[in-house]
Amino acid sequence: MSAKWHPESWKAAEARQMPTWPDPARAAAVEAELKGFPPLVFAGEARVLTDRLAQVAAGKAFLLQGGDCAESFAEFHPNNIRDTFRVLLQMAVVLTFGSHMPVVKVGRMAGQFAKPRSAETEEQAGVVLPAYRGDIVNDINFEEAARAPDPERQKRAYMQAAATLNLLRAFASGGYANLHQVHKWNLDFMGRSPWAERYAEVARRIGEALAFMEACGVSPDTVPQLQGTEFYTSHEALLLGFETALTRQDSLTGEWYDTSAHMLWIGDRTRFPGSAHVEFLRGVGNPIGMKVGPTTTADDLLRLIDTLNPANRAGRLTLITRFGADRVESHLPALIRAVKREGRHVVWSCDPMHGNTVKSATGFKTRPFERILSEVRQVFAVHRAEGSFAGGIHVEMTGQNVTECTGGAVAVTDEALADRYHTHCDPRLNAGQALELAFLLSEELAAERKRMDEAA
Ligand code: PEP
Ligand code: CO
Repeated sequence: MSAKWHPESWKAAEARQMPTWPDPARAAAVEAELKGFPPLVFAGEARVLTDRLAQVAAGKAFLLQGGDCAESFAEFHPNNIRDTFRVLLQMAVVLTFGSHMPVVKVGRMAGQFAKPRSAETEEQAGVVLPAYRGDIVNDINFEEAARAPDPERQKRAYMQAAATLNLLRAFASGGYANLHQVHKWNLDFMGRSPWAERYAEVARRIGEALAFMEACGVSPDTVPQLQGTEFYTSHEALLLGFETALTRQDSLTGEWYDTSAHMLWIGDRTRFPGSAHVEFLRGVGNPIGMKVGPTTTADDLLRLIDTLNPANRAGRLTLITRFGADRVESHLPALIRAVKREGRHVVWSCDPMHGNTVKSATGFKTRPFERILSEVRQVFAVHRAEGSFAGGIHVEMTGQNVTECTGGAVAVTDEALADRYHTHCDPRLNAGQALELAFLLSEELAAERKRMDEAA
């Protein structure tokens, strides 16, 4: 990897998973236009997020990252944005309660459009067309014209990201995120859940804590932190032309930031040594994530960490592990040991989704809730055994009542998957399943906390 970075130095490296635009001149014209569009986030916000993540790396905060696998133009609606945001807040309250730690909230929202694919093409009934690569590249309909990559779509994605981010900022600071309100939503959810009894105690104790605080004069009226929340955006930095067009030099520090989101991550298919995606992200000041999968060796991981975070700054790099429930114990310990041995500061987050995708008996791509939960639990157990901190989770979820993952309290069966299977890419946890995961994880965090208190 060359020492000299500039926003286009990635062009000399190997770029996988990028579309081949049929009309490169048109694509270049769109990118030139995007270069003149306003940044979506401000560099200072990305720096604050790095500070928050440094707290996670130090074991003093927890990271919750979640949202759609792929945002789509068709599902662009204020209710969808609101409902996903609301479920993330609800999960965060439950996790805060369990861990006694602040929860850093990062949406896979306002820009999560481009998808890496395992095959270049898709075949249906003998017809072969280019694979769907996300709405920012082509259309999901299986028709020749629809599947042709169209660079103009990048402008629509930018506009949708801008409008989504605007609403998220309004919700986060305008009163919608009021802690008392979020607790009421949780009570409502818990009351309706088949696992209501299990949640009753947690709900009661959160309610008591809020009542006690209120009696002491600590309420949303007096303490701004209870009225609003910090909320950050993230997506996989896959479409490097688009990301480069939104990469700007910060006027305060002179550093380069990718202003398409606060945090960007590198996917499992593009994190190989020598990758253009690694080259691009190493030079931006944003906090970055990297997926770590079953094919990541300890040596590769250390080399990538050196490239992406040479100054070893805590909060700069989040490792998002995604092995699959049956491969956590065989893969994670060696990586944790290598990172510890070299004294590298990272956030360890668990993506329990991407290693647990299976095909249902009814032919749907799905993920069993039990396997998702099992991966999370094993990751926590391994970190505990290795004396390291499991700092977060990364989930594909939605605030809608979809039927894409099987299991959960209101058990979604293989047969029921057809009812409301709406995802444009991978199966997401629905609102209930996402909250259930937060509750079960919160029990783990509370147990962990008790162990630490006893040991102290
Ligand atoms: C994703 O997060 O949607 C994704 C494609 O994950 P991974 O790169 O880990 O496969
Ligand atoms: Co996905």
